Amino acid sequence: MPQAIRLYETGGPEVLKLEDVDVGEPGPGQARVRHSYIAVNFIDVYHRTGYYPLALPSGLGSDAVGVVEAVGPGVTDVRAGDRVGYLMGPQGAYSDVRVMPANVLIPLPDGVSDRTASTLIMKGMTAQYLFRQVYPLKGGETILYHAAAGGVGLIACQWARALGVTMIGTVSSDEKAEIARANGCTHTIVTSRENIAERVRELTDGKGVPVVFDSVGKDTLQASLDSLQVRGTLVSNGSSSGPVSFDALTLALKGSIWVTRPAMAHYATPRSHMLSMATELFDLVLAGKISSEPKQTYALRDAADAHRALESRQTTGATVLVP
Ligand SMILES: NC(=O)c1ccc[n+]([C@@H]2O[C@H](COP(=O)([O-])OP(=O)(O)OC[C@H]3O[C@@H](n4cnc5c(N)ncnc54)[C@H](OP(=O)(O)O)[C@@H]3O)[C@@H](O)[C@H]2O)c1
Repeated sequence: MPQAIRLYETGGPEVLKLEDVDVGEPGPGQARVRHSYIAVNFIDVYHRTGYYPLALPSGLGSDAVGVVEAVGPGVTDVRAGDRVGYLMGPQGAYSDVRVMPANVLIPLPDGVSDRTASTLIMKGMTAQYLFRQVYPLKGGETILYHAAAGGVGLIACQWARALGVTMIGTVSSDEKAEIARANGCTHTIVTSRENIAERVRELTDGKGVPVVFDSVGKDTLQASLDSLQVRGTLVSNGSSSGPVSFDALTLALKGSIWVTRPAMAHYATPRSHMLSMATELFDLVLAGKISSEPKQTYALRDAADAHRALESRQTTGATVLVP
């Protein structure tokens, strides 16, 4: 019997319940996908806690890879037997097998294994849209990137290196600093003992950086604003430490700062564009410029433990579940 993680209430990791589920046949426009790996992302924590609203009861997760077992009427984007991954569509990736819209499925190239792809789809596509669309980097810039040893972070380190960008990355420990540097982060700031903005000024001859990518939110907002050049850009792309809020006047006082809070859904559409983003990502992987494997692996039934590790900052790189 297929199994899936279901939520009946929001809260701590204990609300994740593994259940037997009926999956059935795909209807019009749908495909049935059997997962090989399921990616755990911080957004899953936001959904589980209720920070991002979910209609309950609900499945969880929006990022997995596997094989198409069957397609419903009218589906032309994929066929049975195709290896695919996805990062959009309804919640429910935390499962062995599911029926879902076929038009969000991304075919995986032969040279990229399921295991590697499971660390790339959401996380690599995030690096793609942050660096190539939200604030297009040309090479030669110095940027500040928070949580550089995280899931998105380790891909971002490698992407920055491939673009010729000098990345200053924040991390909470020396061990994470070493991992970030090994992945291409040029300078690391260990937040448990260093002042972020002071170090950024030292590393940039007092100038500050033109852009900060801040997925940590509440705890790093002030340091991010203090690290920017006049008319610099704050890309606030997550809130793993809590939500961000500020008076607009602060932006004037800090140097006429631009702020954007981007969401994947507004950058990875239409489908043709999502596929071209994926092609750019996979080309870098196939060229050996980005390499990625899961750093933490849990059984699907242990999804709550995976959440505990992610939320308590014990993880580096990507965390995956195996059905
Ligand atoms: N906007 C979008 O479209 C989009 C898409 C994907 C991801 N994101 C965001 O990007 C971020 C990275 O996602 P991810 O899945 O790869 O997670 P992640 O970076 O692997 O995990 C979170 C990391 O954030 C750091 N962190 C700092 N303060 C924290 C706190 N109070 N609690 C927990 N972690 C804290 C920790 O690194 P240190 O210990 O080194 O500080 C931790 O390891 C998340 O904020 C996520 O929401 C946004």
